[in-house]
Amino acid sequence: MDYLQIQGPTRLSGEVRISGAKNAALPIIAMMLLAKNRVEIDNMPEVVDIKTLLKLIENLGGNFALEDNHLSIETHKITNTKATYDIVKTMRASILVLGPLLARFGHCEVSLPGGCAIGQRPIDLHLKALEQMGASISIHAGYVQAVAEDGLKGAEIIFDKITVTGTANIVMAAALAKGKSTLINCAREPEVVQLCEVLRDSGVSIEGIGTSQLTIYGTDRRLIEIEPFSVIPDRIEAGTYLCAGAITKSTMSITNANPHHLSAVITKLEEMGCTFDITEDRIEIRPTEFIKNVNIITQEYPAFPTDLQAQFLALSTQADSTSSIEERLFENRFMHVSELQRLGADIKISGNTALVAGESELFGADVMATDLRASSALILAALVAKGETNIHRIYHLDRGYERLEEKFISLGANIKRLKE
Ligand code: UD1
Repeated sequence: MDYLQIQGPTRLSGEVRISGAKNAALPIIAMMLLAKNRVEIDNMPEVVDIKTLLKLIENLGGNFALEDNHLSIETHKITNTKATYDIVKTMRASILVLGPLLARFGHCEVSLPGGCAIGQRPIDLHLKALEQMGASISIHAGYVQAVAEDGLKGAEIIFDKITVTGTANIVMAAALAKGKSTLINCAREPEVVQLCEVLRDSGVSIEGIGTSQLTIYGTDRRLIEIEPFSVIPDRIEAGTYLCAGAITKSTMSITNANPHHLSAVITKLEEMGCTFDITEDRIEIRPTEFIKNVNIITQEYPAFPTDLQAQFLALSTQADSTSSIEERLFENRFMHVSELQRLGADIKISGNTALVAGESELFGADVMATDLRASSALILAALVAKGETNIHRIYHLDRGYERLEEKFISLGANIKRLKE
């Protein structure tokens, strides 16, 4: 198993190119199940989660080539409709094939996603919506078995809770359903917006893109022709590098970013004292010597993203006084706290709020990555900790951060990937 060794403290400089968004690319790959043609996609992040979903598509009978961040993918000859446990267990987002498979073939079996380190994360809202579209769903031997032999039918669906992959799943199902679907209380994340835009550009009529109410006119199982396009930049990777600039008090830039997707994040960094020079796709961060404390509540987009909660928590350890960080989306998403405490952070958890004392002097130690975003918080802390930090179990990072140590080295960090 690989681990990362980081020597701190360090200053960074230069610029780093942001990769394509993993969370946009995952539903996009699932959407390929709706295409009748071979599709060409640029800016595809070459991270483990993407390779996992591509392997699932290959198991179903599709084929693809992924090279230099270009994906060429074709699913036209698929006949297998079973997404097996061995792949789905490694990545929850595999559930994204449920809607498209069911809509296209009228039946499918998808393994229930395994338990997840950041809480229960059920899929009840995905299943309920598909039932409202006429599917009959049962759970048998660890599999969701879904049947709608005559095809899915458009319906009015009100999501009880805003769900990102749930919205994506049902948008894809509705795209091939018969008639009109109205989806209410949808996720408005840029990743959902891109999915809708690609469907719209492929001839599916969708109203309300970017709002919480989507109206979709299904094609009644007619597959769609998808033109070449490019995956949007990863706003979570971008936010992580901006935090790296802020915590190390370094002036640095990110390129190939979309500043519009980062408004809540930039606002919080401004509250902490950072200033920015922002153009169309480039953001330069000019940090402050004295980081101000901050209050953050994670919520659905366009509010502050839960996927940057851990990184801002690490940054808050260097603020001038106590910060408060409330996690509203997931239970049990503070597992990075005990690891940050090993580095010397002073953090108290009360319910779903972390109170982070500022001005903590951090010292290098052995720590363990617990989930994808928690791991990047450990890197940020290690960049300012005195001495050597070894971050174990970095397979979590490889799931979502492309060429991570290469990018940090290019910014001047002293970071090495080693074998246990
Ligand atoms: C997606 C992102 C993940 C991010 C999260 C919240 C992908 C691949 N992953 O995850 O990085 O942290 O959005 O921004 O895009 N819920 C239910 N029932 C359901 C579905 C969800 O109760 O059927 C709950 C969840 O437990 C959670 C909340 O709704 O409390 C939001 O979850 P959801 O938006 O579905 O997260 P994911 O789509 O899994």
